Amino acid sequence: MTQLFRPLQFVLSVLAGAAISLNAMAVDMSDEAISERIKPVGNVYLDGELDIAKAPEASAGPRDGATIYNTFCTACHSTGVAGAPKRGDADEWAARVGKGEDTVFANAWNGINAMPAKGTCGDCSEDEIKAAIAYLTQ
Ligand code: HEC
Repeated sequence: MTQLFRPLQFVLSVLAGAAISLNAMAVDMSDEAISERIKPVGNVYLDGELDIAKAPEASAGPRDGATIYNTFCTACHSTGVAGAPKRGDADEWAARVGKGEDTVFANAWNGINAMPAKGTCGDCSEDEIKAAIAYLTQ
């Protein structure tokens, strides 16, 4: 008689084991639980959902000449280091501006001798460099 029960006991113990391991693998599949799990990479902003006007890059617009000068150009052009023409030195600038606005701009944009391209303002637009030159030469 006991021999008849052995296969049944075996089947029952396998089922019990399966039930236990299934329980251990149980995962919370609710929407909140899923979005919580994927949160670090799952943030999605739909068009119009984000207030872009608040992003500083988007609202900054072109910087004025004084801002560019004080950030990038002052290091050389306030002291005249390496022969840089000083800001406000009318004589020095008169000779340079005499070469023509386009030439002076091209030299500032591309760099010339110890003057680095764009005066180290790598993300400056043409208008911003022109504004900085106007501020330098006034
Ligand atoms: C690392 C130092 C340095 C920085 C920073 C720098 N300059 Fe200059 N700049 C020079 C030197 C040196 C010259 C003179 C180059 C020459 O004629 O040999 C010069 C010359 C110029 C000239 C005259 C070009 C010509 O045709 O005679 C302009 C315009 C100018 N710089 C604009 C700027 C502006 C705008 C910035 C900032 C965005 C800037 N520079 C930042 C060193 C610098």
